[in-house]
Order: sequence, then C-alpha cells, then structure tokens
Amino acid sequence: MVQYENISTQNTLESLGIYIHIPFCEKRCNYCHFFSKVSTKDQIDTFFDALISEIEHSEQTNRNLLENSFVDSIYFGGGTPSLIKPGLLKNLLKILQLKFNIKDPEITLEANPKSFLENYRDKEDIFFNRLSLGIVSFQDEELCNLNRDNFGYDALKLSKKLGIDNVSVDLLIGIPGQTLDTLRISLDTICTFNNVNGVSVYPLEADFVLPDEVVLEFMRYSKEYLCKKGYIRYEIANYAKDGYFCRHNLKYWKYMNFLSFGPSAASKIGNRRFKRSSNLDAYLHKNFLMEEDIELSDEDEFFEKVMMGLRLMDGIKILELKNRFDRRLVDNLILVSKKFDQLVKIEEDTISLTNKGIIFMNDLLVELIPD
Ligand SMILES: C[S@@+](CC[C@H](N)C(=O)[O-])C[C@H]1O[C@@H](n2cnc3c(N)ncnc32)[C@H](O)[C@@H]1O
Ligand code: SF4
Repeated sequence: MVQYENISTQNTLESLGIYIHIPFCEKRCNYCHFFSKVSTKDQIDTFFDALISEIEHSEQTNRNLLENSFVDSIYFGGGTPSLIKPGLLKNLLKILQLKFNIKDPEITLEANPKSFLENYRDKEDIFFNRLSLGIVSFQDEELCNLNRDNFGYDALKLSKKLGIDNVSVDLLIGIPGQTLDTLRISLDTICTFNNVNGVSVYPLEADFVLPDEVVLEFMRYSKEYLCKKGYIRYEIANYAKDGYFCRHNLKYWKYMNFLSFGPSAASKIGNRRFKRSSNLDAYLHKNFLMEEDIELSDEDEFFEKVMMGLRLMDGIKILELKNRFDRRLVDNLILVSKKFDQLVKIEEDTISLTNKGIIFMNDLLVELIPD
C-alpha cells in the first residue's frame, strides 16, 4: 500500500477528485457505451507515456486550481484498469503524489473479474483501498448474452484472500434471460462476502433489455433485499454499508470539482466543464484534443446541480442553493416541486425524490431545463 503524507491543508482548500480513464479492454461487451479499445501491449506503454505528459501539462495550466485544492479521491476507471499491471498504476500514483496535494485519499480501482484474477496475485499488488468489481451476474447464460465471462465468484474469493475490505460490486438488471430467481442468486452470493461493502444495481442500457416493468420489479426487489441486509441506498442505483459511500462518486452527485485525464474523460472545475476527445490515436501522439470546453451559465449550473443532486436519497439542501444561485431559480424549483409533488417532496430544508420520482425523474427535469 502506498503511504500518503498529510501535506498541510488549510480550511480554505477545496476538495478535488481525480479520475484517470484507462481506455482498454480485453474484449468489448456488446452493450457498453464507455470509450475503450481492445489493447495491444505496445499501445499500453505508449498510453502511459502520453498520460504522464497530459498530467504534467495540466499541472502547468491548472496551477491556481492545484494550489487551492487537496485531492481526497482518485479513481481509476475505464475501460478496464485491472488490465494494466499493478506496477504501472503504482508508478502513476507516485507521479500524482508529486504533482498534487494528496490527502488521505480514497483510491478506487475499477476491475473486470477476469483481468483482476490474472494481474492481482498478492498483497504487494494492492495500491488501492476500494475495489469496484464489474460482476454483472453470476449466470453463464446472462453473461454470454452480453459477451462477458463468468469469473465474479473467483474474483470475490481473491479479494477476500488479498484482504481488500472495501469491495463494491456492480450488478446489472434487465439482462436477457434474467429472472427474479437468478437476481436473487446474485444478491445471495455477494452477501456471503463480508468485504462487499458496496453494491451498485444498474439497469442495463441497451436496445435488447427486458421490459420496463420487469426492470422496475427487479429494482424494487434489489432495494428491499439490500436494505434488509444492512446496505443503505444513498443514490438511485448505489447501496453501501454505513461509512462506505463512495467518496469519489459523491463528488459527481454533489456537483463538486473533479479533474480527469485520459481520452474521453470529462472534468468539472467551478463553472467550467471540459471533455477530452475520444481520439485514441491523437492521444497516443500526445495530441490532447478537447471534445468540449464550456463555461456554464448560472442557469446551466443550477440545472446540472439539481439533476445530479436529486439522484441522492438525501436530496438537495435548499439553503445551499439559495447561497449560491439567483433567488428566482430556487423559487422556480420550489414551484415546480410543489406542482410535481408525486415525484418530489420538500421536507424542511431538503428537496428529494419520492419513490415514484426515482422512476420518473425525467418528467420533472424537463420542466427545469433552462431555455
Ligand atoms: C465501465 S465498466 C468498468 C469495469 C470493467 N470494464 C467491467 O466491465 O467490469 C463499469 C460498469 O459499467 C457497466 N456498464 C457498461 N455499459 C453499461 C450499460 N450500457 N448499461 C449499464 N451498465 C453498463 C459495466 O457492466 C460495469 O459493471
Ligand atoms: S469490459 Fe467494461 S468497459 Fe470494457 S466493454 Fe465491457 S463493460 Fe465496457
């Protein structure tokens, strides 16, 4: 485990999340919209060289931000970060440590079960303190329908053997062939591992999913099952034991700052949102193209903050909105919330979704989209 010194932080420093996009997979799943390519060894080495250059370049251009921030979450996402040998990622962490003011960080590795089994063999390999395992399902047939392999159980056993005590498992609902029984088997299986402290239950987004009403039933079932087992639903699709909410992902939902590296990676710093191009060839040639770089208006920021914040079961604090945004925007939100009281509720200082709102959140958002 890499040790981090507490570099002196003043109260005025803002928390910053760092995301690193690893754009490679061993093979592509037939439903995935994330940017990744099937990799070759040469490409991986070239990619890391380019990635380090991008980080160094960012250090120069974002000096002001870096001087005023401390990093308390680092997220290796993808694509498939577990495809990369741990030594390369450990080295990258050392470089980040030199460039950023890193303070007691949550470090997440997103992993595909198969490459996790291949690349992580002993405790020395573990440089992260949170493992996000894309298990999806434990059924051969369901996984085969998605062009995925079935190594979830073995990966969980390995995580336990390696002493990783913060594992979060991704399950999907709505997979062709899935039934309430097979979903129950997935939930039963993960709950036999006491190091699984987080579970994400995502509806499969693809053009071959099970009908909406089945997905809704699976969603309701998962919620009841996981809550009975002591997991807290803290976001529409995310559950965790107390103390294990994902610090990095909370930054997206709470609309905090995050700085991202790698092709297709999106960042948000203050009112600036920017996204790297997905052009891997250009990236490997250290041509760091932007796909989007915009300054958000107050209205846009307000809308995005509400859209993200409503995903949290704790909702959004009205006072926080009033302190930051024009009064008219907040008043309009309260007005729309009262009109759609089936979807959203106001309790004391908080606006949050009702059970129906969790499903039909978009009906509310269209009323709030800025002109
Ligand atoms: C981007 S992957 C990263 C981890 C690793 N590559 C894997 O697949 O296990 C993270 C999660 O996103 C899920 N995912 C990807 N595309 C999705 C889609 N269209 N709908 C729902 N979940 C999706 C994957 O199944 C996986 O659980
Ligand atoms: S392994 Fe993960 S990132 Fe790669 S294609 Fe499959 S779901 Fe997408």
